[in-house]
Amino acid sequence: MSIQKIVSLITLSATLLQGSMEAAMPDKAIDGSLFLVNRDHMVSEHYVPVVRTVNVVGMRQSMKEEAAAALEEMYAAASQDSAPLSSVSGYRSFTKQSTIYARKQKTAGQKTAEAYVAIPGASEHQLGVAMDVTKRGGSNLNAGFGKTKAGLWIAENAWRYGFIVRYLEGEESVTGYAYEPWHVRYVGKEHAKAIYESGVPMEIYVSVHRLAVYDFLIKQTDEVLQ
Ligand code: DAL
Ligand code: ZN
Repeated sequence: MSIQKIVSLITLSATLLQGSMEAAMPDKAIDGSLFLVNRDHMVSEHYVPVVRTVNVVGMRQSMKEEAAAALEEMYAAASQDSAPLSSVSGYRSFTKQSTIYARKQKTAGQKTAEAYVAIPGASEHQLGVAMDVTKRGGSNLNAGFGKTKAGLWIAENAWRYGFIVRYLEGEESVTGYAYEPWHVRYVGKEHAKAIYESGVPMEIYVSVHRLAVYDFLIKQTDEVLQ
């Protein structure tokens, strides 16, 4: 066995033993496309991504570079298909999320706040990869958006640009949130296509992906041992 293979085997084994998914799968690192954020996987209040203003119609919002560029591409395509979109809310700091959550608690009550707004640290908006979109000229976010031309366009086409509709109807028990046809999250084109085609929420996709990567690593280890 070559030195290189031994080193590779040690690295793989260490990764498996430590359960260090970040080391095994770069796309699950905090800056990676599959970094999962929900009530069970929270982000530090100190996490602040590098973001830039997104050049689209709507409220002035920002996102991380890759997501911003993909969003701009998506908005242009939606306009071409006569389903123009407008931006409402992109990157939100931990503090901003706290403000939004507190306001929702006050105006709509605890139950509604929990169903529609993540507690600070549990929002994908803090990652800079999520955007709340609505139809051009609108600013309200509600389930009815899913039935509009723009909402239907998003549901059918967002994956082509690397986005997923994150909080699906009927998956509330898995995602932990109400159906939000307006909230898209960037995961990159490859994962977005797979998630869209599978129809499962990101929580399930990430678990299956994790198992697949473990399987791959174990096979690699076996091959090296042979
Ligand atoms: N509306 C989603 C759950 C958020 O606040 O991040
Ligand atoms: Zn959102």
